[in-house]
Amino acid sequence: MRSGAVQFSRFTFIPWILRSRSSVLCRPSTTACQSERLALAIPRLRNKVTSMAKLLLLPGDGIGPEVMAEVERLIAFMNENGLGRFETEAALVGGGCYDLYGVAVTEDTMAKAKAADAILFGAVGGPKWDGVPYDVRPEAGLLRLRKELGLFANIRPAICHPALADSSSLKREVVDGLDIIILRELTGGLYFGEPKEIKDLGNGQKRAVDTQVYDTYEIERIARVGFELARERRNKVTSTEKRNVMKSGVLWHEVVTDLHKREYPDVKLEHQLADACGMQLVRWPKQFDVIVCDNLFGDMLSDVAAMLTGSLGMLPSASLGEVDARTKKRSGLYEPVHGSAPDIAGKGVANPIAMVASFAMALRYSLGMTKAADLVDQAIAAALAKGLRTPDIKSEGATLVGTAQMGEAIAGELARLAGKTN
Ligand SMILES: NC(=O)c1ccc[n+]([C@@H]2O[C@H](COP(=O)([O-])OP(=O)(O)OC[C@H]3O[C@@H](n4cnc5c(N)ncnc54)[C@H](O)[C@@H]3O)[C@@H](O)[C@H]2O)c1
Repeated sequence: MRSGAVQFSRFTFIPWILRSRSSVLCRPSTTACQSERLALAIPRLRNKVTSMAKLLLLPGDGIGPEVMAEVERLIAFMNENGLGRFETEAALVGGGCYDLYGVAVTEDTMAKAKAADAILFGAVGGPKWDGVPYDVRPEAGLLRLRKELGLFANIRPAICHPALADSSSLKREVVDGLDIIILRELTGGLYFGEPKEIKDLGNGQKRAVDTQVYDTYEIERIARVGFELARERRNKVTSTEKRNVMKSGVLWHEVVTDLHKREYPDVKLEHQLADACGMQLVRWPKQFDVIVCDNLFGDMLSDVAAMLTGSLGMLPSASLGEVDARTKKRSGLYEPVHGSAPDIAGKGVANPIAMVASFAMALRYSLGMTKAADLVDQAIAAALAKGLRTPDIKSEGATLVGTAQMGEAIAGELARLAGKTN
């Protein structure tokens, strides 16, 4: 059995995790930095062997709790069968949290998020909360978590399982075997820049302002992650911006080019305007390896990439911060790319794979449980290879299943792969 998920599981993040920190402190080639890299590698391994992993579960709204339930099923199975030692705690976030506390995330949950080894996030929002004040809208909870945990690197793999190549709106040959990463800057740019306001101009008109702002260090650290990821893959980075019309694009292009020359001349670097990149993504996506983008363009391009893989319900993501100098831990929040899907919420038909694959990313990048992560990815691929499909990825001749049945099938495949079946 060969699947994109299995391929993806072979990535190793250790080099860039270590270098991304060294970039802040000193040049990567110095002896001090080399020993620091080794020192930072140790807690990852120690975590793996000795500690109980503390997971904070934030299921959220709409289909969030439905898909999170399938991760809880896997966690229970892994705890019972010695495949992991997890301690979980759940909290409200988004609209459900607003209904009870008047905010999208509470101080108590923020403290728990900071203390957790990894955060698993479902999805937030829905029409019920369309009218709530902007500062406490459901998405504000997610944005606060991202900002306060410093989750600047959002990794969104777009992998097309061979079993699903016909579910894409593009031709099979365009997407079959696709394995690319959209790397989105997550804590800067247009979504956070100030001023951000709607002004009353007093003449019956209003003016809305959002500010696109990037400093050198923000561009450099996300580009560095991109180069490090590429080195572990097909060694190619595509940097996107709009330098033809935006000053932030001019700086982005300059900083990425300089960093490439200085530290990553071995990696192939190309630049594409973000709109052209969107076009190329649907024309011939296999030309890409790692696409590095700012917050806004990354948001859009990753949704385009989502459709290449068949469904939003298939796409996991990881959002990672810097390694903390004191605790030697790195914050990580793992969530499906999709939203709360109000149109199917409560019907038991949501595809849980994006959420389960996000859990696999948490095992890999926050908990150092590479083998368990591989098993979960393989279990997803095996369930698909058996022809099971939720409605969003249904195809002729496949067996249509609901959320819980897909989750059960993945757990069953995990049991089989781990040799835990009776
Ligand atoms: N990170 C987040 O929490 C997040 C992200 C995007 C949107 N949202 C919020 O979600 C709400 C709905 O937004 P939207 O409709 O634009 O996007 P969406 O991702 O929720 O849904 C888009 C389409 O994809 C389908 N879909 C999504 N996930 C699926 C899954 N797991 N299985 C099967 N089908 C799936 C939905 O049924 C819908 O037809 C809005 O309130 C939006 O603000 C939240």
